[in-house]
Amino acid sequence: MSATAKKRALMPEDIRARKGGEPIVSLTAYTTPMAQMMDAHCDFVLVGDSVGMVLHGLPSTLGVTMEMMILHGQAVARGLDSAMMVIDMPFGSYEESPQQAFRSAARLMAETGAGAVKLEGGREMAQTIQFLVARGIPVVAHVGLTPQSINTLGGYKVQGRGEEGSGLIADARAVAEAGAFCVVLEKVPEGLANQVTEELPIPTIGIGASAGCDGQILVLDDMLGLFTAFKAKFVKRFANLGEQAEEAIADYARAVKAREFPGPEHVFADLAPQNKPS
Ligand code: KIV
Repeated sequence: MSATAKKRALMPEDIRARKGGEPIVSLTAYTTPMAQMMDAHCDFVLVGDSVGMVLHGLPSTLGVTMEMMILHGQAVARGLDSAMMVIDMPFGSYEESPQQAFRSAARLMAETGAGAVKLEGGREMAQTIQFLVARGIPVVAHVGLTPQSINTLGGYKVQGRGEEGSGLIADARAVAEAGAFCVVLEKVPEGLANQVTEELPIPTIGIGASAGCDGQILVLDDMLGLFTAFKAKFVKRFANLGEQAEEAIADYARAVKAREFPGPEHVFADLAPQNKPS
């Protein structure tokens, strides 16, 4: 590729074609600078509704609105060149009917430039996924632990253990048959994730699932150690930026109180007397 040639952004068919191949790399992003940092390293970037918890201090993802998703989606889009951008459909924007889902998905894509939407749910969402895909909206499905349903799931529990496994397999099959181009498997037992990955014709993206999935995703603020309210077992902190940030803030406060900051290199000299305007 010449130095001036711009790489085209990845598309759903590129992700789909990675089934069984090189693992798909994905992270969530909510801001332009972070999107810029991950563009060269991620195949797709998810503007996750986790933004409500990690950046807005909400207790769950249930309070996230279309407006929040659009604002963060626009910010992320400004930072991406080659990675595909997927945007989460917030709670209450799609569950009522396929028509409601289409209106919300079309608005998210039109106002942010996202290449696909993600929605939570298995068999109960199959008809909606089919409706969206048939009308030009690529869909990433999300089964297993679906955080928008914590009130009916009884919390952030592992999904699909024991006899529940067959239900999870049925969910994964249903979203694949409905036309989703990949599926996130969240917090499911390793063996089950491997079984679903082997069986499905579309890539599986694991989060708390298995290294055998076709790809992995993590919440950015979790893996950077910026979100420290709690840490799920499946999160690996690849950095501890939260600790570093807190130390830097404390150091700044100390330096201000000790009048060490600003130093001579941070202040501006007055004009020499002969140059002063009379
Ligand atoms: O909102 C989000 O960050 C997600 C990931 C956990 C997959 O849905």
